[in-house]
Amino acid sequence: MSLQAKKRADYLPPAFTINDVKMDVQLHPTCTRVTSEYQVERMGNHGHALTLDGDNLTLREVCIDGQPYTDYEQTDSSLVICNVADDFSLKLVTEIDPEHNQALEGLYLSAGTYCTQCEAEGFRRITYYLDRPDVLARFEVTLHGDKQHYPTLLANGNPIARGDHDDGTHWVTWQDPHPKPAYLFALVAGDFDLLEDSYTTTSGKPVKLELYVDKGKRDQGVFALESLKRAMKWDEDTFGLEYDLDIYMIVAVDFFNMGAMENKGLNIFNSKFVLADQDSATDEDFFNVESVIAHEYFHNWTGNRVTCRDWFQLSLKEGLTVFRDQQFSADMTSPLSNRIKHVRVMREHQFAEDASAMSHPIRPEEVIEMNNFYTVTVYDKGAEVIRMFHTLLGPEKFREGMDEYFRRHDGQAVTCDDFVAAMQSVTDLNLGHFALWYSQSGTPVIEVTTSYDPQTRRMDITFSQHTAPTADQKDKASLFMPVAFDCIDSAGNHYTDDDGQVRDGMFILDTAAKTLHFSDVPEPLIPVVLGNFSAPAKVENSLSAEQLLAVFQYANDTFNRWDALQSLYDWCIHQYELENQAAVDATIWQGLEQVITRESHNHELLGECLVIPSFETLCQSRQLVEVAALNTARSQFCRDFAQRLHGPLETLFKTLETGPYQYTQTAINARRCRNVVLNHLACAGDADKLLNQQFEQADNMTDSLGALKAAQGHSPSVFESLMSRFEQRWNHDPLVLDKWFGLHATTERTDILSQLSLLQQHPRFAKGNPNRVRAVIGSFAFFNTAGFHAPDGSGYQFVTDYLLKLDAVNPQVAARIVTPLTQWHNFAPDYQLLMKAQLERIANHKGLSGDLYEKVSKSLA
Ligand code: PHE
Ligand code: ZN
Repeated sequence: MSLQAKKRADYLPPAFTINDVKMDVQLHPTCTRVTSEYQVERMGNHGHALTLDGDNLTLREVCIDGQPYTDYEQTDSSLVICNVADDFSLKLVTEIDPEHNQALEGLYLSAGTYCTQCEAEGFRRITYYLDRPDVLARFEVTLHGDKQHYPTLLANGNPIARGDHDDGTHWVTWQDPHPKPAYLFALVAGDFDLLEDSYTTTSGKPVKLELYVDKGKRDQGVFALESLKRAMKWDEDTFGLEYDLDIYMIVAVDFFNMGAMENKGLNIFNSKFVLADQDSATDEDFFNVESVIAHEYFHNWTGNRVTCRDWFQLSLKEGLTVFRDQQFSADMTSPLSNRIKHVRVMREHQFAEDASAMSHPIRPEEVIEMNNFYTVTVYDKGAEVIRMFHTLLGPEKFREGMDEYFRRHDGQAVTCDDFVAAMQSVTDLNLGHFALWYSQSGTPVIEVTTSYDPQTRRMDITFSQHTAPTADQKDKASLFMPVAFDCIDSAGNHYTDDDGQVRDGMFILDTAAKTLHFSDVPEPLIPVVLGNFSAPAKVENSLSAEQLLAVFQYANDTFNRWDALQSLYDWCIHQYELENQAAVDATIWQGLEQVITRESHNHELLGECLVIPSFETLCQSRQLVEVAALNTARSQFCRDFAQRLHGPLETLFKTLETGPYQYTQTAINARRCRNVVLNHLACAGDADKLLNQQFEQADNMTDSLGALKAAQGHSPSVFESLMSRFEQRWNHDPLVLDKWFGLHATTERTDILSQLSLLQQHPRFAKGNPNRVRAVIGSFAFFNTAGFHAPDGSGYQFVTDYLLKLDAVNPQVAARIVTPLTQWHNFAPDYQLLMKAQLERIANHKGLSGDLYEKVSKSLA
């Protein structure tokens, strides 16, 4: 591994390319033999040697044009073959050890199943190759394996031949007609339950659908397969995009670093995003399964047919595909709760990343370990940037731009600039300035100031933008932002600006400041800004509590209405921090009571509006956070909220009888609202009976877990007893038990560290399984505010101790879990010191991975 940063600006096209690949893989747990044959072609006029990437490989043989070849050199990370012709065939034999591959990159064994993970740079752990996304080749792959243990042998494309050997092994040959970069290569060998289905595309092409799950889990795969068909239909209806192979396969595995992988025709999934049924999965799990299934499917066009030229362009496929899966989910479920969900991710995680030492533009400039750049910035902020294209152009022009993008680039490896150029070709809007979103990091702040003159009855509203310097970039320019805007008075009348700058509820902020004028205005107006979160920015709009309640009551945009209450809660909690509780007076409590009574029929809206902002969200509107003080203020406010509003909450709860389980939007909204309210009732105290009852009577996981979560913070004895019943019931299913692990790890208690140690000794815990590690250690580091930020530093130390061990096993997962430590900048000096001390320990650790090195060294710089 190299600790040298690569720069986007240093891109050079490949000196050679590989057009055809033939691979023969003899599967063996500790000594898998890979024979690969490449048709290699020199690109351009030069005399360089051929340098192939490789990592952890044992080289056995090199042949050129059928003859053994010795003129080569090996380094830690490459094979350099000297004095080669312009066109030749290269044959290599390498050996690898899947059983001891715990990093889960390349070929590995997941609970007895062979599978691969090649994005970003994992193919080089299988054989020597030009492991870069701008080298596209046709692959033909033959797998050999024991017939009894591995009856299923899969690779990309279509099976073209199969047979048996005499020794109890069998073989299958797969051919993928679409040239692809190596990161989309996959193979799987195992013994599965198979769900089969089919889909006929709009143009009449039949596609076989196959979903492979662990034996005995067939029923839990049904929902995923249905989701796949919905995604296929949606992409045809929305973007005119059809599937392009005869067969589409999905395999669920238990050991996986990420969510899932879009390998051509053979997606490999973390089983967490496939398996779901009423008993074991929450509504949110179902939602996630559908959205990840769709995400990987959508990659077939945005990612596979048109791929990335280099890894700095990752957002080209990820931002766009996340946007597409968000639109799909909104169409399948509900636009409002989807939007709120994604805005929460932006505010809780992306804004924090952008304010940390890891800050980077959606198209990064510099990378040491590519795995560190599968970030909320590249993915989620990237999706927000695509959404702004959609907002600015409108759905029709956006579709035209997408059509043009595919027309120009199908079969190519391209850049974000190519995407912008395709969009530019369908619009008169100058996208040059807008494209700054690709290169500028940091979260812009829009400050709203108003002035009102009662004499002239004129009102000015000024919007100024600035982006604070970030760790990676000092100078910032004004961005080009679509700002959804509405303007109301205290009685709910809407106003339009004199110059008509606001059109269809939107204006463009593309300078440091812009002023809107209003005349003949009876009173100071209330600006309602950034409807539907029209740009990934923070807004500073100092509205009073009364004004925020008016926004909730009268604004056109439902997102704004929700957001107004979030701002109101934030303001209230701030009063508690200032020990100025009295400022949260009767009019506010009455206003909130009216929110509940007036909207009692709107379960979706209330289910969102009755959620108090998380600690992480609150951190984003504060600096140098005193963790304990903020946490206490938040808890006190929650308690007062629950007590003051107990009457209306209880009344609402009684109307929320949800009936036998159904996965429909109405039922989902009601369950969500009910569980949010239950949590408040538990917080007010005296809800033990309700909690037990709900757990007892639940016919689905959403309600079981809702009861557990409500008990967690508010009723320790109920929590203990329900948790032990949950454990007994689900001990056989680690994926479900992860919810239990997570609840334990996020519980606020003084002996949390010994609890965490106990959890690690649990028979179902496995330090090699990323889902388990994330459920215990990840949940603690990300979400146990009091425990992780314990004032004596013990939480930081615990996580660090763990990460130093984990790094030797799975650096990719270790580097993800270190994230909260790297975000020390936002905390008060005492916390900072303690966090940095642990980062120093990591930095000084012998044999540290490049993954951790990059994040830790940046955050200490
Ligand atoms: N490309 C995958 C996705 O977005 C994510 C992934 C990255 C998976 C790297 C594994 C390794 O769907
Ligand atoms: Zn993706």
